[in-house]
Amino acid sequence: MKKVFIETMGCQMNKSDTERMLGILSHFGYNETADWKEADLLMINTCSIRQLSEDKAFSMIGTWGKKKKEQPGLKIGFCGCVAQQKSKDLFKRAPYVDFILGTHDIYKLPEIIKRVESGEKVCECSEDITPPLPCVGEGRGEGEPAINRTKSVNAWIPIMEGCNNFCTYCIVPYTRGRERSRAPEIIIKEAQEALKQGFKEITLLGQNVDSYSYGLSGLLRSLNALEPKFRIRFVTSYPTDITDELIRTAAELDKVCEYFHIPMQSGSTEVLRKMNRRYTREQYAQICAKIRKLVPDVTITSDFIAGFPGETEEQFLETLSAMEELELDYSNTAAYSPREKTVAAKWTDLFIPEDVKTGRLARLNEQVKKCCLASNKKYVGREMEVLIEKFYIHKGKNINTGRTRNNKIVHIRSDKDLTGQFITVKITNARTWYLNAETYLNLKL
Ligand code: SAH
Ligand code: SF4
Ligand code: F3S
Repeated sequence: MKKVFIETMGCQMNKSDTERMLGILSHFGYNETADWKEADLLMINTCSIRQLSEDKAFSMIGTWGKKKKEQPGLKIGFCGCVAQQKSKDLFKRAPYVDFILGTHDIYKLPEIIKRVESGEKVCECSEDITPPLPCVGEGRGEGEPAINRTKSVNAWIPIMEGCNNFCTYCIVPYTRGRERSRAPEIIIKEAQEALKQGFKEITLLGQNVDSYSYGLSGLLRSLNALEPKFRIRFVTSYPTDITDELIRTAAELDKVCEYFHIPMQSGSTEVLRKMNRRYTREQYAQICAKIRKLVPDVTITSDFIAGFPGETEEQFLETLSAMEELELDYSNTAAYSPREKTVAAKWTDLFIPEDVKTGRLARLNEQVKKCCLASNKKYVGREMEVLIEKFYIHKGKNINTGRTRNNKIVHIRSDKDLTGQFITVKITNARTWYLNAETYLNLKL
């Protein structure tokens, strides 16, 4: 067997793609290694959402290029969103790369590897995007797993890919193409396989899960009927695509967790308009209110961008106030980064100076901390179900860490490894990023 190392950057979609690539490669003579230095094949699965992530990819691949001088047989693959976007131009920038693999051609890996092993340089970054996510099970033997899932309690299952929204700052429609959905039968089969392997949580993935063309509510119902006990999550939701039916379904189904990730991006209606987001601050607020009314204890998280072109101090303050007013439980944050091909990248005269952008980002992060702590404090003294994800020793103490249904991280002291178990605990105190729990209610330890 040869050894492959894949470095994964970016979102959960990329992590899921990596698991699929490893699954395919395992049937073509490659086992995964955690040490890049001993690999025969090095692959980088890149993200182009911000300049910083792209720069990181080039710096890492540069190190790999140097290694190739000592190990001429080493093969290097450049994959993912940056590959899709830059295609064969990458050979000019990084001539030591053996193959370039875009986001739509993962299923071609077996053929690509054969060509690369015979000394060819290969670039597969097709623009056409059919069939959707076809790599599952490609080339595998009977009964063998198609996906080398990361060993944890959670299994990611993509349900749709791509985006038709074209927010003016975002590169994803160019790296992932137009929206297309996977058939429910395939998704259910993958979920059954994951459950058979012992996974306790299924997270349905998509750039806009509520645009799932076969209907997200129906899919949730089918999945909810599966056994044994497990949890269901779905990310990411586009605010105005969340239907009343979806909220009611999520509220009703016992396996669907009380958790919505709904990026707002800005608290200012005027900025949202320039971002080409199809909602106002008020409409976003109404959606949150509706969810909170129907789903008790729901966690609502968001993404915000600081320093979008033309954003005034007042408009930025609207973002800070929205987080507080809507009691958002957590948010990812980023300073605006101009991206090739996107509309806003052309508005150079409106660009916000770097120091102002970083200043706003720091204030945004302070607000996230405040909101997160306030949200966590609501649960002190409460009994909550935790699914344990890992067991480890910290400062001489044995700790189990897991998540509640509403996605709060909980640390519990105990000498027993409870990974993969559902435990009911009592929350004893709240920190900014996690909760502590010490009392077991259903377990004597
Ligand atoms: N589909 C999701 C988001 C996917 S991209 C949605 O519609 O909300 C993940 C996040 O990256 C975005 O929510 C946004 O906050 C951030 N992001 C995207 N493009 C960016 C850019 N050019 N600069 C800074 N942050 C960006
Ligand atoms: Fe990007 Fe907007 Fe599509 Fe989200 S909805 S992936 S932010 S273009
Ligand atoms: Fe990045 Fe591509 Fe995901 S650009 S955020 S890895 S879809």
